[in-house]
Amino acid sequence: MASLASTLPDNVPAGRVVDFDVFAPPGGESDYFAAWATLRGGDGLVWTTSNGGHWIATKGELTRQIWNDAETFSSEALAVTPGLGEAMRFIPLQQDAPEHKPFRAAIMKGFGNNHVMAMEPVIRKVTRELIADLRAHGGCEFMQEFAEIVPIHVFLSLIGVPTEDRARLRPLGQQLTRPDGSMTVEQLRDAADDYLRPYIEERLATPGPDLFSRILAIPIDGRPWTFEEAQRMCRNLLFGGLDTVVSMFGNIALHLARHPSDQALLRERPDLIPQAADELMRRYPMVSVTRNVVQDIQLDGVTLRTGDLVYINSSIHNLDPACFDDPLTVDFERNLAPVRHTTMGVGPHRCVGAGLARLEAILFLEEWLAAIPPFRVSEGTQPVYRAGNVGAITDLRLAWD
Ligand code: HEM
Repeated sequence: MASLASTLPDNVPAGRVVDFDVFAPPGGESDYFAAWATLRGGDGLVWTTSNGGHWIATKGELTRQIWNDAETFSSEALAVTPGLGEAMRFIPLQQDAPEHKPFRAAIMKGFGNNHVMAMEPVIRKVTRELIADLRAHGGCEFMQEFAEIVPIHVFLSLIGVPTEDRARLRPLGQQLTRPDGSMTVEQLRDAADDYLRPYIEERLATPGPDLFSRILAIPIDGRPWTFEEAQRMCRNLLFGGLDTVVSMFGNIALHLARHPSDQALLRERPDLIPQAADELMRRYPMVSVTRNVVQDIQLDGVTLRTGDLVYINSSIHNLDPACFDDPLTVDFERNLAPVRHTTMGVGPHRCVGAGLARLEAILFLEEWLAAIPPFRVSEGTQPVYRAGNVGAITDLRLAWD
């Protein structure tokens, strides 16, 4: 049998090898954050032999530095998850400079603050209606009965599609958040494309007042978007804003369920809700991304070679005591300005939907706390997590009297 050293790439020192599968970290089912915490600190850059072999950054500042350095670390391949990048070809997520810039600029304009704020009545309405339905039940499985529904509804409003269509997109959202192995990445993409095709064609031909039409009306280097580009962008908006937002809702609800005093504080002082949303998003970051090294570089005492993959996880940064004081404590009055946490990424690919996600969080907190009495995790149940590029909560039973 070959020794470990002989199977390692020659730029990987044997002392930097760890046994860590990013899709199944130790204890990840019962606590995603605790599982990642087992890796924090250490040597800074470590190598796992899982999933074909790749680097992982284990320190906060190093994670942020890599995230921010798009010249050395490319976004194009979206690797580690086999086949995902080739299948999705997301715009703008999988583009590097200079190609990325005009697409990103058009999308950012579409997501301008005034346009996002115009979504408030739609988001508030669906949030309120769902909560009103749950209230009398005395409890719910929060992920399926609330968290998974809102972002699909918001996406449909974003692209100007009747929200009665929600049921048609729901199974796709579920496959993304809780894949049961019944669909390949390609099948998932094709199903999303089949659903979206007529709407994309229509928005390109006859732009409406929706956010999606507005983005497509902005020329790319002076020429119109092609259908294929519009499709890749729409896919990115769909897949980028579903399981992330689902997970955000789950983490916020779980925190409050476990911390009655924080619930009480926000009920008493709803003016703290926007800050609370920001702090909860810092405290429970769930996204990891992969970068491809595009030029050899010495970093943290090792040589990264062109073609190497580096995996970076936002909780490694946000929960590092070297980056935030007492990082595990939720403090609604923590000063988070200017935003340094990496929940939404950092650098040229920072989330275009950050403002929208924040609005969804704020409206959830306002509406939930106004309608639902003090709530807790149902007796005898435990939340279930699933690790992955987006750390998810897949089951969360809540109860109230
Ligand atoms: C809490 C919810 C969300 C979280 C935690 C989140 C997180 C992130 C992160 C970490 C990135 C950077 C990826 C990278 O550097 O490779 C990103 C990019 C992106 N997100 Fe989000 N996101 C959320 C919600 C949304 C929503 C609601 C949308 C749209 C409807 C969206 C659309 C996108 C897009 C299009 C990009 C790519 C930006 C670019 O490459 O220039 N996200 N998101």
